[in-house]
Amino acid sequence: MLTALLTATFVAAPAAGRPAAARPAGRTAPTLPAQVPGATADTANGCLACHAAQRRAATEGIHAEHGVTCVSCHGGDPAAVTLPRGHSGHFVGTPDKAATAELCGSCHSDPDRMREYGLPTGQLAQFRSSKHGQLLFGQHNNDVPTCTDCHGTHIIYPPYDARSRVYPTNIPGTCASCHSDPKLMAKYHIRTDQFAQFRNSAHGVALFQDQNFAAPTCVGCHGAHSELPPTVTEIASVCGRCHVLVEQEFAKGPHGAAARAGKLPGCLACHSNHGTERVPADSISATCDRCHGSDSQVHQFAVDIQHRVVQATADIQSAERAIDQMAAAGERVGYYRFRYKSGLTYFREIAQKQHRLNLDTLDDLARRVRSVSIDLDSRAKGTQESRWEHKLLLLPVWFLSLSAVVLALLALRGLRKRDRDSDSSET
Ligand code: HEC
Ligand code: HEC
Ligand code: HEC
Ligand code: HEC
Ligand code: HEC
Ligand code: HEC
Ligand code: HEC
Ligand code: HEC
Ligand code: HEC
Repeated sequence: MLTALLTATFVAAPAAGRPAAARPAGRTAPTLPAQVPGATADTANGCLACHAAQRRAATEGIHAEHGVTCVSCHGGDPAAVTLPRGHSGHFVGTPDKAATAELCGSCHSDPDRMREYGLPTGQLAQFRSSKHGQLLFGQHNNDVPTCTDCHGTHIIYPPYDARSRVYPTNIPGTCASCHSDPKLMAKYHIRTDQFAQFRNSAHGVALFQDQNFAAPTCVGCHGAHSELPPTVTEIASVCGRCHVLVEQEFAKGPHGAAARAGKLPGCLACHSNHGTERVPADSISATCDRCHGSDSQVHQFAVDIQHRVVQATADIQSAERAIDQMAAAGERVGYYRFRYKSGLTYFREIAQKQHRLNLDTLDDLARRVRSVSIDLDSRAKGTQESRWEHKLLLLPVWFLSLSAVVLALLALRGLRKRDRDSDSSET
């Protein structure tokens, strides 16, 4: 009935601006994946005549821009304006999740097709090996995402387009649409707090507030297509992809060895994966005590580390105040600011190098910060003293100028008086 109705409507359609001559002659039913047709969607795409809901997809998004049309994915006859001819040939209706991944992969895993765009071709292979792919292909589980859950189906934007669901600031929300769903995740006994934790973490703040796209979104640690939780021995290298210097120092120390042996959860011994935070200077030894205990040999060592970090923090803050004071006094601070910057570099190195757990290195750096701080402090004090001296020196100058003004006034009065006297003597 519906078919008959649609047929009736669209048999008449060619007369209304769809000349039969525009039909590509001798076109065979496309095979899947079809070649990207050269013709533009609106002249050859009969599908749109019936599927008005997908009309926008024919002009918007990365696929439309590159000539991927309805038939590239669904097959059928794009020149037909009737059913069942429109759906004839190798027609693919609505593919299920697994078939969708294969469909997208039919182009995106093909190096010959993707070469001209410089796109990687590993998405489907990586997806297969991920937890998501294992469940989808191994157990036909439809709770996991397929390509279109993360990218959209008909209007797909590239990851660098802010409208894309995989644009950096949108990724956590895309993952959270499932991972923060308590009913869905209860089935798998996984927690649902990853996004909530991440939002307030050092990484989340850098990403959302500072728009710092060097910070990891969920996929910075899990991979965009290969999602698996990193295993204990992998964690340090996952974080080390970005925190290169920290990881190098960590690897050289006793904790690096323990992590490689699987005895320590890498960076997560002291930082958390989703709520990633800086360990505050004054709670370093408490952090170590969690594993080593407050009566262990390590405890005193931890207190020593904490002492150096706390002292260096106070030193760098006081150096900063000194610079501010000098600037407020109108001193030229160019050179001293340079000194301060070098102190700041040593200070930052402390935070990185303490991961090696070597006190000598820390002592050396802490001393350098100290010396910058002492230097700038004494300079700032000098500035203030010389300001006072300056003011004292000015006293005689003030005295002399005031005297000059008073003398001038007196002289003026004398002159006026003489003038008046001579005036009255004339009348
Ligand atoms: C004459 C109108 C008409 C034309 C032309 C047409 N379709 Fe359809 N299409 C329909 C109708 C009506 C339905 C829903 C009923 C059905 O499932 O058969 C549908 C359903 C579909 C579905 C969903 C099928 C499913 O099983 O879930 C897809 C996908 C589809 N069309 C793609 C296309 C493509 C691609 C073209 C062009 C090559 C096209 N259609 C041409 C009318 C049309
Ligand atoms: C890049 C591949 C691709 C292209 C191009 C594409 N589709 Fe689809 N389409 C799919 C997939 C995959 C599904 C299955 C549903 C899902 O995964 O969201 C689907 C589902 C559909 C459906 C049924 C469900 C729904 O969303 O209504 C229709 C109808 C449809 N497509 C029509 C079209 C038309 C018309 C065009 C051309 C404008 C088109 N498609 C272009 C991949 C594509
Ligand atoms: C007929 C071949 C073909 C099929 C099938 C196909 N694509 Fe594409 N895809 C392309 C081409 C061509 C581009 C354009 C490449 C470019 O300019 O970056 C593209 C681009 C993309 C991009 C943007 C990549 C970037 O960084 O620029 C994404 C994301 C994407 N496709 C996802 C999908 C998904 C998801 C599916 C399945 C629903 C799919 N594609 C099916 C050919 C295809
Ligand atoms: C769980 C979500 C998710 C799924 C499922 C997914 N992608 Fe992606 N995809 C992403 C993210 C996120 C990016 C952005 C890459 C980044 O930030 O490193 C991306 C990027 C891409 C790109 C751009 C090039 C690249 O590799 O960076 C293409 C093409 C692509 N995906 C295709 C696919 C295909 C094909 C499938 C299915 C086999 C798929 N994606 C499944 C999340 C997903
Ligand atoms: C369509 C829903 C859905 C979306 C979207 C989704 N996931 Fe999943 N994810 C699941 C399900 C279901 C599981 C299976 C849970 C299990 O078996 O452990 C899973 C498993 C995982 C696992 C393995 C957990 C474990 O302990 O084994 C990780 C890691 C993961 N997802 C990360 C992500 C990331 C990162 C994103 C976004 C880029 C994402 N997921 C998007 C549904 C989803
Ligand atoms: C800084 C790196 C990092 C970021 C960012 C990150 N994860 Fe994780 N995630 C991990 C690590 C490491 C594990 C494994 C923890 C373990 O083994 O104890 C993990 C575990 C998981 C798991 C398994 C269940 C669990 O909670 O232990 C899921 C699901 C998951 N992450 C999803 C996400 C989602 C969703 C996001 C984004 C909102 C995200 N992750 C962001 C590092 C990260
Ligand atoms: C994709 C790169 C990337 C990955 C992977 C990554 N981080 Fe980060 N991390 C950053 C960026 C960028 C910042 C923000 C720096 C800033 O704002 O100054 C940051 C900040 C931090 C901070 C706070 C530093 C501060 O000064 O406040 C800690 C701690 C941290 N990350 C630990 C980790 C841990 C632990 C892991 C692994 C579980 C990890 N990171 C994985 C890029 C990354
Ligand atoms: C998550 C638990 C954990 C935390 C927290 C932790 N450690 Fe360790 N630490 C270990 C493990 C495990 C080893 C390896 C012990 C072995 O190989 O027998 C180790 C080894 C060491 C060693 C080598 C000497 C020894 O006793 O084996 C030192 C020194 C050390 N840790 C100092 C620290 C300091 C300082 C902190 C705080 C900044 C800290 N640890 C925090 C678990 C931890
Ligand atoms: C034994 C505990 C411990 C472990 C294990 C640990 N960290 Fe730290 N991390 C700290 C402490 C304590 C600080 C703060 C030091 C300071 O303020 O000077 C810190 C600071 C940081 C910072 C801030 C550095 C900066 O430049 O300001 C980053 C980033 C970081 N850690 C990343 C990591 C990574 C990556 C790993 C694994 C390779 C790791 N941490 C392992 C205790 C640890």
